Amino acid sequence: MAKDGEKSEWKECVWNPRTREFLGRTASSWGLIILFYIVFYLFLAGLFALTMYIMLQTLDDHKPTWQDRLSTPGLVIRPHHEPQETNDIIYTIQKTESWDKFPQKLDEFLSPYNDSIQAQKNHECTPEQYFLQEDSGEVKNNPKRSCQFNRTILEECSGLQDRSYGYQEGKPCIIIKLNRVIGMLPGKDGQPPSVTCGAKRDDSDKIGEMLYFPSNGTFDLMYYPYYGKKAQVNYSQPLVAVKFLNITVNQDVNIECKINSNNIPIGNERDKFAGRVSFRLRINSDK
Ligand SMILES: *[C@@H]1O[C@H](CO)[C@@H](O)[C@H](O)[C@H]1NC(C)=O
Ligand SMILES: *[C@@H]1O[C@H](CO)[C@@H](O)[C@H](O)[C@H]1NC(C)=O
Ligand SMILES: *[C@@H]1O[C@H](CO)[C@@H](O)[C@H](O)[C@H]1NC(C)=O
Ligand SMILES: *[C@@H]1O[C@H](CO)[C@@H](O)[C@H](O)[C@H]1NC(C)=O
Ligand SMILES: *[C@@H]1O[C@H](CO)[C@@H](O)[C@H](O)[C@H]1NC(C)=O
Repeated sequence: MAKDGEKSEWKECVWNPRTREFLGRTASSWGLIILFYIVFYLFLAGLFALTMYIMLQTLDDHKPTWQDRLSTPGLVIRPHHEPQETNDIIYTIQKTESWDKFPQKLDEFLSPYNDSIQAQKNHECTPEQYFLQEDSGEVKNNPKRSCQFNRTILEECSGLQDRSYGYQEGKPCIIIKLNRVIGMLPGKDGQPPSVTCGAKRDDSDKIGEMLYFPSNGTFDLMYYPYYGKKAQVNYSQPLVAVKFLNITVNQDVNIECKINSNNIPIGNERDKFAGRVSFRLRINSDK
Protein backbone atom coordinates (compact mmCIF):
# COMPACT_ATOMS: atom_id res chain seq x y z
CA MET A 1 0.00 0.00 0.00
CA ALA A 2 2.91 2.30 0.75
CA LYS A 3 3.89 2.01 -2.86
CA ASP A 4 0.44 3.04 -4.01
CA GLY A 5 0.55 6.08 -1.72
CA GLU A 6 3.88 7.20 -3.16
CA LYS A 7 2.51 6.86 -6.67
CA SER A 8 -0.54 8.98 -5.98
CA GLU A 9 1.64 11.59 -4.24
CA TRP A 10 3.75 11.84 -7.35
CA LYS A 11 0.66 12.01 -9.49
CA GLU A 12 -0.66 14.83 -7.35
CA CYS A 13 2.50 16.73 -8.05
CA VAL A 14 1.55 16.87 -11.69
CA TRP A 15 -2.15 17.29 -11.29
CA ASN A 16 -3.72 17.86 -7.89
CA PRO A 17 -7.46 17.36 -8.24
CA ARG A 18 -8.14 18.81 -4.77
CA THR A 19 -6.55 22.22 -5.32
CA ARG A 20 -6.88 21.94 -9.13
CA GLU A 21 -3.18 22.68 -9.52
CA PHE A 22 -1.09 21.64 -12.51
CA LEU A 23 2.60 21.30 -11.62
CA GLY A 24 1.95 23.26 -8.47
CA ARG A 25 0.12 26.18 -10.08
CA THR A 26 -3.45 26.97 -10.78
CA ALA A 27 -4.71 27.68 -14.28
CA SER A 28 -4.91 31.43 -13.64
CA SER A 29 -1.37 31.49 -12.23
CA TRP A 30 -0.12 29.72 -15.35
CA GLY A 31 -2.11 32.06 -17.52
CA LEU A 32 -0.48 35.08 -15.89
CA ILE A 33 3.01 33.65 -16.30
CA ILE A 34 2.46 32.88 -19.97
CA LEU A 35 0.94 36.31 -20.54
CA PHE A 36 3.91 37.94 -18.79
CA TYR A 37 6.40 36.18 -21.02
CA ILE A 38 4.46 36.95 -24.19
CA VAL A 39 4.40 40.65 -23.31
CA PHE A 40 8.05 40.58 -22.24
CA TYR A 41 9.28 39.00 -25.48
CA LEU A 42 7.10 41.21 -27.63
CA PHE A 43 8.63 44.18 -25.87
CA LEU A 44 12.18 42.90 -26.54
CA ALA A 45 11.39 42.22 -30.19
CA GLY A 46 9.89 45.67 -30.54
CA LEU A 47 12.91 47.30 -28.96
CA PHE A 48 15.25 45.39 -31.28
CA ALA A 49 13.21 46.31 -34.37
CA LEU A 50 13.14 49.95 -33.34
CA THR A 51 16.91 50.05 -32.80
CA MET A 52 17.55 48.40 -36.16
CA TYR A 53 15.17 50.78 -37.86
CA ILE A 54 16.90 53.83 -36.41
CA MET A 55 20.34 52.40 -37.31
CA LEU A 56 19.34 51.68 -40.89
CA GLN A 57 17.87 55.16 -41.28
CA THR A 58 21.29 56.62 -40.64
CA LEU A 59 23.01 54.47 -43.27
CA ASP A 60 23.38 55.56 -46.84
CA ASP A 61 23.39 52.77 -49.37
CA HIS A 62 25.78 54.61 -51.60
CA LYS A 63 28.37 55.86 -49.23
CA PRO A 64 30.10 54.25 -46.27
CA THR A 65 29.21 55.96 -43.00
CA TRP A 66 32.67 55.43 -41.64
CA GLN A 67 35.80 55.15 -43.68
CA ASP A 68 39.35 54.85 -42.53
CA ARG A 69 40.60 57.98 -44.22
CA LEU A 70 43.83 56.82 -45.75
CA SER A 71 45.84 59.91 -46.38
CA THR A 72 47.86 58.01 -48.94
CA PRO A 73 46.38 55.35 -51.17
CA GLY A 74 48.48 52.38 -52.21
CA LEU A 75 49.90 51.76 -55.65
CA VAL A 76 49.48 48.40 -57.35
CA ILE A 77 51.31 46.98 -60.35
CA ARG A 78 50.23 44.58 -63.05
CA PRO A 79 51.09 41.90 -64.07
CA HIS A 80 51.16 40.41 -60.61
CA HIS A 81 51.59 36.90 -59.33
CA GLU A 82 48.90 34.72 -57.83
CA PRO A 83 48.90 34.37 -54.94
CA GLN A 84 50.32 37.83 -54.68
CA GLU A 85 53.58 37.11 -52.88
CA THR A 86 55.98 39.32 -54.74
CA ASN A 87 55.75 41.78 -57.56
CA ASP A 88 58.91 40.45 -59.17
CA ILE A 89 59.07 40.13 -62.92
CA ILE A 90 61.79 37.72 -63.94
CA TYR A 91 62.04 36.01 -67.29
CA THR A 92 64.32 34.93 -70.09
CA ILE A 93 63.69 36.52 -73.47
CA GLN A 94 64.46 33.37 -75.45
CA LYS A 95 62.18 31.18 -73.35
CA THR A 96 58.65 32.11 -74.37
CA GLU A 97 57.15 29.97 -71.63
CA SER A 98 58.99 32.06 -69.05
CA TRP A 99 57.15 35.25 -70.03
CA ASP A 100 54.01 34.47 -71.99
CA LYS A 101 51.94 34.54 -68.80
CA PHE A 102 52.66 38.26 -68.41
CA PRO A 103 50.97 39.40 -71.65
CA GLN A 104 48.15 36.97 -70.89
CA LYS A 105 47.53 38.56 -67.52
CA LEU A 106 47.72 42.05 -68.96
CA ASP A 107 45.24 41.10 -71.70
CA GLU A 108 42.85 39.88 -69.07
CA PHE A 109 43.34 42.94 -66.93
CA LEU A 110 42.90 45.40 -69.81
CA SER A 111 39.97 43.78 -71.51
CA PRO A 112 37.36 45.93 -69.67
CA TYR A 113 39.25 48.96 -70.99
CA ASN A 114 38.62 48.08 -74.64
CA ASP A 115 37.51 51.26 -76.39
CA SER A 116 34.28 49.67 -77.52
CA ILE A 117 33.38 48.71 -73.96
CA GLN A 118 34.36 52.09 -72.56
CA ALA A 119 32.30 53.86 -75.23
CA GLN A 120 29.31 51.74 -74.28
CA LYS A 121 29.62 52.05 -70.49
CA ASN A 122 31.20 55.39 -69.82
CA HIS A 123 30.98 59.03 -70.54
CA GLU A 124 33.38 61.29 -72.44
CA CYS A 125 34.43 63.76 -69.78
CA THR A 126 36.23 67.06 -69.95
CA PRO A 127 39.88 66.36 -69.20
CA GLU A 128 41.94 68.15 -66.56
CA GLN A 129 39.08 68.89 -64.22
CA TYR A 130 37.28 66.93 -61.53
CA PHE A 131 34.08 65.23 -62.62
CA LEU A 132 31.91 66.32 -59.72
CA GLN A 133 28.43 64.86 -59.40
CA GLU A 134 27.35 65.93 -55.96
CA ASP A 135 23.99 65.14 -54.43
CA SER A 136 21.80 68.15 -53.81
CA GLY A 137 20.78 67.65 -50.21
CA GLU A 138 18.43 64.71 -49.86
CA VAL A 139 18.13 64.26 -53.62
CA LYS A 140 20.69 61.67 -54.58
CA ASN A 141 22.35 62.12 -57.90
CA ASN A 142 22.60 58.35 -58.53
CA PRO A 143 23.70 56.43 -60.46
CA LYS A 144 26.72 58.55 -61.14
CA ARG A 145 28.46 58.44 -64.49
CA SER A 146 32.09 57.51 -64.97
CA CYS A 147 34.67 58.69 -67.45
CA GLN A 148 36.08 56.68 -70.31
CA PHE A 149 39.56 55.33 -69.97
CA ASN A 150 40.29 53.90 -73.39
CA ARG A 151 42.79 51.13 -73.73
CA THR A 152 44.34 52.93 -76.69
CA ILE A 153 45.59 55.66 -74.31
CA LEU A 154 48.28 53.16 -73.28
CA GLU A 155 49.61 53.09 -76.87
CA GLU A 156 52.66 50.79 -77.01
CA CYS A 157 51.61 49.25 -73.70
CA SER A 158 47.99 48.67 -74.70
CA GLY A 159 48.75 45.22 -76.09
CA LEU A 160 46.83 46.14 -79.23
CA GLN A 161 49.67 46.62 -81.71
CA ASP A 162 52.32 44.78 -79.74
CA ARG A 163 50.61 41.67 -78.45
CA SER A 164 53.56 40.82 -76.19
CA TYR A 165 53.61 44.23 -74.43
CA GLY A 166 57.33 44.44 -75.19
CA TYR A 167 58.21 41.32 -73.19
CA GLN A 168 59.44 39.54 -76.28
CA GLU A 169 61.98 42.26 -77.10
CA GLY A 170 63.11 42.78 -73.51
CA LYS A 171 61.26 46.11 -73.30
CA PRO A 172 58.48 45.12 -70.94
CA CYS A 173 55.51 47.22 -69.92
CA ILE A 174 54.06 47.31 -66.46
CA ILE A 175 50.79 48.92 -65.52
CA ILE A 176 50.20 50.90 -62.36
CA LYS A 177 47.00 51.87 -60.67
CA LEU A 178 46.22 53.90 -57.61
CA ASN A 179 43.91 52.22 -55.12
CA ARG A 180 40.45 53.68 -54.95
CA VAL A 181 39.61 56.02 -52.14
CA ILE A 182 36.07 57.33 -52.02
CA GLY A 183 35.93 61.08 -52.26
CA MET A 184 39.65 61.58 -52.78
CA LEU A 185 40.59 64.66 -54.80
CA PRO A 186 44.27 64.17 -55.60
CA GLY A 187 46.22 67.09 -56.92
CA LYS A 188 45.74 70.69 -55.87
CA ASP A 189 45.48 73.69 -58.17
CA GLY A 190 44.77 71.62 -61.27
CA GLN A 191 48.06 69.72 -61.01
CA PRO A 192 47.18 66.08 -61.68
CA PRO A 193 48.89 63.30 -59.73
CA SER A 194 51.50 61.37 -61.66
CA VAL A 195 53.64 58.28 -61.33
CA THR A 196 57.39 58.16 -61.64
CA CYS A 197 59.59 55.11 -61.47
CA GLY A 198 63.24 54.95 -60.59
CA ALA A 199 65.93 52.53 -59.54
CA LYS A 200 66.50 51.73 -55.91
CA ARG A 201 69.84 51.58 -54.21
CA ASP A 202 72.72 51.48 -56.67
CA ASP A 203 70.74 50.20 -59.64
CA SER A 204 70.34 53.62 -61.21
CA ASP A 205 72.81 52.88 -64.00
CA LYS A 206 70.88 49.73 -64.95
CA ILE A 207 67.33 50.99 -65.29
CA GLY A 208 67.76 52.75 -68.63
CA GLU A 209 65.20 54.95 -70.27
CA MET A 210 61.49 54.66 -69.59
CA LEU A 211 58.38 55.74 -71.43
CA TYR A 212 55.11 56.60 -69.68
CA PHE A 213 51.62 56.27 -71.10
CA PRO A 214 49.74 58.56 -70.94
CA SER A 215 52.66 60.92 -71.28
CA ASN A 216 54.11 62.21 -68.01
CA GLY A 217 52.47 59.27 -66.23
CA THR A 218 49.48 61.30 -65.11
CA PHE A 219 46.14 60.20 -63.72
CA ASP A 220 43.78 62.74 -65.21
CA LEU A 221 41.71 64.73 -62.72
CA MET A 222 38.49 63.78 -64.50
CA TYR A 223 38.63 60.30 -62.91
CA TYR A 224 38.17 61.88 -59.48
CA PRO A 225 36.40 61.88 -57.15
CA TYR A 226 35.34 58.26 -56.92
CA TYR A 227 31.92 57.92 -55.35
CA GLY A 228 31.95 54.21 -54.44
CA LYS A 229 30.99 50.96 -56.07
CA LYS A 230 27.25 51.33 -55.62
CA ALA A 231 26.91 54.93 -56.69
CA GLN A 232 29.33 54.68 -59.60
CA VAL A 233 28.80 51.21 -60.99
CA ASN A 234 30.81 51.54 -64.19
CA TYR A 235 33.86 53.29 -62.73
CA SER A 236 37.11 52.46 -64.55
CA GLN A 237 40.23 53.18 -62.59
CA PRO A 238 42.73 55.25 -64.54
CA LEU A 239 46.01 53.54 -65.36
CA VAL A 240 49.59 54.49 -66.10
CA ALA A 241 51.82 52.21 -68.14
CA VAL A 242 55.61 52.26 -67.92
CA LYS A 243 57.78 50.74 -70.61
CA PHE A 244 61.41 49.94 -69.82
CA LEU A 245 63.32 50.62 -73.01
CA ASN A 246 66.90 49.76 -72.18
CA ILE A 247 67.11 47.83 -68.97
CA THR A 248 70.39 46.03 -68.31
CA VAL A 249 69.97 42.31 -68.94
CA ASN A 250 71.11 39.42 -66.74
CA GLN A 251 71.01 41.55 -63.61
CA ASP A 252 68.50 42.27 -60.91
CA VAL A 253 67.15 45.79 -61.10
CA ASN A 254 65.23 47.02 -58.08
CA ILE A 255 62.62 49.54 -59.07
CA GLU A 256 60.32 51.75 -57.12
CA CYS A 257 57.38 53.67 -58.51
CA LYS A 258 55.67 56.37 -56.55
CA ILE A 259 52.79 58.75 -56.76
CA ASN A 260 53.58 62.44 -57.01
CA SER A 261 50.89 64.79 -56.00
CA ASN A 262 50.96 68.08 -54.21
CA ASN A 263 48.38 66.86 -51.70
CA ILE A 264 49.27 63.20 -51.17
CA PRO A 265 52.07 62.65 -48.66
CA ILE A 266 54.26 59.64 -49.40
CA GLY A 267 55.46 57.14 -46.85
CA ASN A 268 54.06 58.54 -43.61
CA GLU A 269 54.75 57.05 -40.17
CA ARG A 270 51.67 54.85 -40.32
CA ASP A 271 52.68 53.10 -43.49
CA LYS A 272 55.99 53.73 -45.10
CA PHE A 273 54.92 51.87 -48.23
CA ALA A 274 51.95 54.14 -48.79
CA GLY A 275 51.96 55.78 -52.19
CA ARG A 276 54.75 53.62 -53.52
CA VAL A 277 55.35 50.15 -54.90
CA SER A 278 58.60 48.31 -55.46
CA PHE A 279 59.49 45.30 -57.51
CA ARG A 280 62.45 43.50 -58.96
CA LEU A 281 62.82 43.30 -62.70
CA ARG A 282 65.29 40.85 -64.18
CA ILE A 283 65.49 40.07 -67.83
CA ASN A 284 67.78 37.25 -68.77
CA SER A 285 69.11 36.93 -72.24
CA ASP A 286 71.28 34.28 -73.83
CA LYS A 287 72.72 36.80 -76.24
C1 LIG B 1 39.24 43.52 -75.95
O1 LIG B 1 40.02 43.68 -77.12
C2 LIG B 1 40.94 42.61 -77.35
C3 LIG B 1 41.81 42.99 -78.52
O2 LIG B 1 41.07 43.58 -79.55
C4 LIG B 1 40.13 41.33 -77.59
O3 LIG B 1 41.01 40.25 -77.81
C5 LIG B 1 39.28 41.06 -76.36
O4 LIG B 1 38.47 39.93 -76.57
C6 LIG B 1 38.41 42.26 -76.05
N1 LIG B 1 37.74 42.00 -74.80
C7 LIG B 1 36.44 42.19 -74.61
C8 LIG B 1 35.91 41.87 -73.27
O5 LIG B 1 35.73 42.60 -75.51
C1 LIG C 1 37.28 56.06 -76.58
O1 LIG C 1 37.07 55.29 -77.71
C2 LIG C 1 35.80 55.47 -78.29
C3 LIG C 1 35.65 54.45 -79.42
O2 LIG C 1 36.73 54.51 -80.30
C4 LIG C 1 35.67 56.91 -78.79
O3 LIG C 1 34.40 57.11 -79.35
C5 LIG C 1 35.86 57.84 -77.61
O4 LIG C 1 35.87 59.17 -78.05
C6 LIG C 1 37.16 57.55 -76.90
N1 LIG C 1 37.18 58.30 -75.67
C7 LIG C 1 38.19 59.09 -75.31
C8 LIG C 1 38.03 59.79 -74.00
O5 LIG C 1 39.19 59.24 -75.98
C1 LIG D 1 26.83 51.34 -67.11
O1 LIG D 1 27.05 50.57 -68.26
C2 LIG D 1 25.87 50.06 -68.88
C3 LIG D 1 26.31 49.24 -70.08
O2 LIG D 1 27.16 48.21 -69.71
C4 LIG D 1 24.98 51.20 -69.30
O3 LIG D 1 23.79 50.68 -69.86
C5 LIG D 1 24.65 52.07 -68.12
O4 LIG D 1 23.89 53.19 -68.54
C6 LIG D 1 25.93 52.54 -67.46
N1 LIG D 1 25.60 53.26 -66.26
C7 LIG D 1 26.03 54.50 -66.02
C8 LIG D 1 25.57 55.13 -64.76
O5 LIG D 1 26.79 55.09 -66.76
C1 LIG E 1 54.31 66.90 -69.22
O1 LIG E 1 55.03 67.66 -68.27
C2 LIG E 1 55.69 68.78 -68.81
C3 LIG E 1 56.52 69.42 -67.72
O2 LIG E 1 55.90 69.32 -66.49
C4 LIG E 1 54.64 69.75 -69.39
O3 LIG E 1 55.28 70.85 -69.96
C5 LIG E 1 53.83 69.01 -70.45
O4 LIG E 1 52.81 69.87 -70.91
C6 LIG E 1 53.24 67.77 -69.89
N1 LIG E 1 52.59 67.01 -70.96
C7 LIG E 1 51.36 66.56 -70.88
C8 LIG E 1 50.84 65.86 -72.07
O5 LIG E 1 50.67 66.71 -69.89
C1 LIG F 1 71.36 51.36 -73.16
O1 LIG F 1 72.11 51.27 -71.95
C2 LIG F 1 73.51 51.10 -72.13
C3 LIG F 1 74.15 51.00 -70.74
O2 LIG F 1 73.42 50.16 -69.90
C4 LIG F 1 74.10 52.24 -72.90
O3 LIG F 1 75.47 51.99 -73.14
C5 LIG F 1 73.36 52.40 -74.22
O4 LIG F 1 73.82 53.55 -74.88
C6 LIG F 1 71.86 52.53 -73.97
N1 LIG F 1 71.16 52.57 -75.25
C7 LIG F 1 70.25 53.49 -75.54
C8 LIG F 1 69.61 53.39 -76.89
O5 LIG F 1 69.94 54.35 -74.76
